Amino acid sequence: MKLFLDSADPKEIAALVATGLIDGVTTNPSLAAKTSMPLFDALRQICEMVPGSVSAEVTALTAKEMIAEGEKLAKIASNITIKVPLTWDGLMACKHLSGAGHTVNVTLCFSPNQALLAAKAGATYISPFIGRLDDAGHDGMDLIREIRLVYDNYSFSTEILAASVRHATHVRACAMAGADIATLPPALFRSLIQHPLTDKGLAAFMEDWKRSGQSIL
Ligand code: E4P
Repeated sequence: MKLFLDSADPKEIAALVATGLIDGVTTNPSLAAKTSMPLFDALRQICEMVPGSVSAEVTALTAKEMIAEGEKLAKIASNITIKVPLTWDGLMACKHLSGAGHTVNVTLCFSPNQALLAAKAGATYISPFIGRLDDAGHDGMDLIREIRLVYDNYSFSTEILAASVRHATHVRACAMAGADIATLPPALFRSLIQHPLTDKGLAAFMEDWKRSGQSIL
C-alpha cells in the first residue's frame, strides 16, 4: 500500500520525505487555508520534493470552471493530480481532464455507487472518506471493502485512495482491505512506527552489547 501525506504544509512534508517512504501528497482547500503560504507557492514546493502524485483541489462548482482551474493547477508541475468533487459537474470535469491526459482524484466519496461513477469517468484515484463516515455512525472501512470488490469485479484501474484516515487502526484495516493508498496526517504517519516492545528490546540489546565491551567499527 502506498502512503501519502495529507497536508499542504511544505515544511511538515519535507521532514517526512526524508524517510524515503512518502509516495505522494493530498491537499484540500481546508488544509491549504491552514498554511500561511499562498497555494501555488506551497504546491510548487511540495511537487519539487515529492516525486509522486500531489493532489491539488479545484474550488469551482461548474464543470467548465473546474476544467479551467484544473488546467491551471496542472501547469504547476508534471506530478500534479487534479482533484475534483464527486458531483455531476466534478465527474464531467474528470472525464474531460482524464481524457486530456491528466491524472484526476475524485474526492468526497461516501458510497460504492459514487466510486463506480468515478471509475467510469476515468478517475485515476477515488478518495473514500472513512473517518467522516465513522463520525456519522457508519463503518468507513465497509466502504473500502465494497469499492475494492466493485473495482475488482470489473477490472477498473482506478486506485482506491483511502482518505479521512484518523488513527493507526484505520491504516492497518486499509492495508488488509486492499486499499491502494492511504493518505495520512503527518502526526499519524509518525506514530505508525511506535511500539513499546521495540523500544524495550532495543534498550536491552544496547545494554548487553555495551557490557560485552566490543565494537563493530
Ligand atoms: C484528503 O484527500 C482528504 O481531503 C482528507 O483526508 C480529509 O480528511 P478529514 O476528514 O480528516 O478532513
